[in-house]
Amino acid sequence: MSFTYQNLQSEIVAASSDDQFAQAVLEGLSRNPKRLPSWLIYDDRGSEIFTEITQLVGYHPAQCEFEIFEQQKQVITDILPKDAFRVIELGSGDGQKTHILLKHLIQSKLTFDYVPIDISEGAIKDLVDFLKSRFSQSSMSVTGLAADYFDGLQVIREYPNRRNIVLFLGSTIGNMELPAAEQFVGKLQQSLKPGDYVMIGFDLMKHPKTLYAAYNDSTGVFERFNLNLLDVLNRKLGANFSKDHFVQQGHYNPKSHAVESYIYSTRKQSVFIEALEKEFFFEAWEAMQSEHSYKYTQSEIESLAENSGYRIVTNLFDEHHHFVDSIWEVKQ
Ligand SMILES: C[S@@+](CC[C@H](N)C(=O)[O-])C[C@H]1O[C@@H](n2cnc3c(N)ncnc32)[C@H](O)[C@@H]1O
Repeated sequence: MSFTYQNLQSEIVAASSDDQFAQAVLEGLSRNPKRLPSWLIYDDRGSEIFTEITQLVGYHPAQCEFEIFEQQKQVITDILPKDAFRVIELGSGDGQKTHILLKHLIQSKLTFDYVPIDISEGAIKDLVDFLKSRFSQSSMSVTGLAADYFDGLQVIREYPNRRNIVLFLGSTIGNMELPAAEQFVGKLQQSLKPGDYVMIGFDLMKHPKTLYAAYNDSTGVFERFNLNLLDVLNRKLGANFSKDHFVQQGHYNPKSHAVESYIYSTRKQSVFIEALEKEFFFEAWEAMQSEHSYKYTQSEIESLAENSGYRIVTNLFDEHHHFVDSIWEVKQ
């Protein structure tokens, strides 16, 4: 069986995504208050620090989703086709939750391929190497793709008769605002065929104190994760942010229904960004939003599925109903 990975980010794609990145930073830093979109935060290092976040005992979205995979892997397996199918994962990161499912599918003697897709090439390489070390004797083939979600999804055109289950875990959908999430699941539905499945991990609305604790760990991992964004801006755009002059804090905002992370400037300062040929000013304690994690209600999840051409097959909750992995089928 083969374990391969490909980088689909050609120079042309990379140049256009660099332009998109620069444009998003220009818009975000020109706003008042300053606000950068969550997707800027993921480079190889961002993805590595996210793995540390998933290991924090207090970060319930990861702990709940691990529990769901451990406890309900047979329920997921029972839904899947008995003939050959493909597991595609968008934003796989280190793939540690999926590993639980893959192991179970192999033990259940099902025939399937696994296609993890992630913008971080480092994460994809590490994941393919990890799976090769564990499963080289199994019948599973793995093709890791370092690519943007929908560029990677083009792979669906190969083996058009094979059914797909697309995983989108880790509450990554929460990084989008509701209208963007609607657009995303709609575009995903258009890329799939009737009978294909998606499984999406949603963090549910809960006590704001629980949310606050989850995003403000005492060991400072969340702060490192958010401040890594400044390193990304320095490297990609030739900015001169000094991380020592910024701190981070997360807050639940009842108006946006999201946990929002802010990077605060601890002093009055200016930052020059070479690629934008522009200087940006920060007042002392000015806050710049760096992350957005939307908290869903069950009825919002139902509307999202039904308005986008899916039928909800089942909802898999953790013991405390803090998180749900919702499995949908693309309607006929
Ligand atoms: C919140 S993490 C989730 C990781 C993993 N699925 C989990 O549940 O622990 C989001 C992942 O999506 C990847 N990612 C973010 N934007 C992406 C994009 N546009 N295309 C592909 N991958 C992306 C990041 O590199 C990161 O690994």
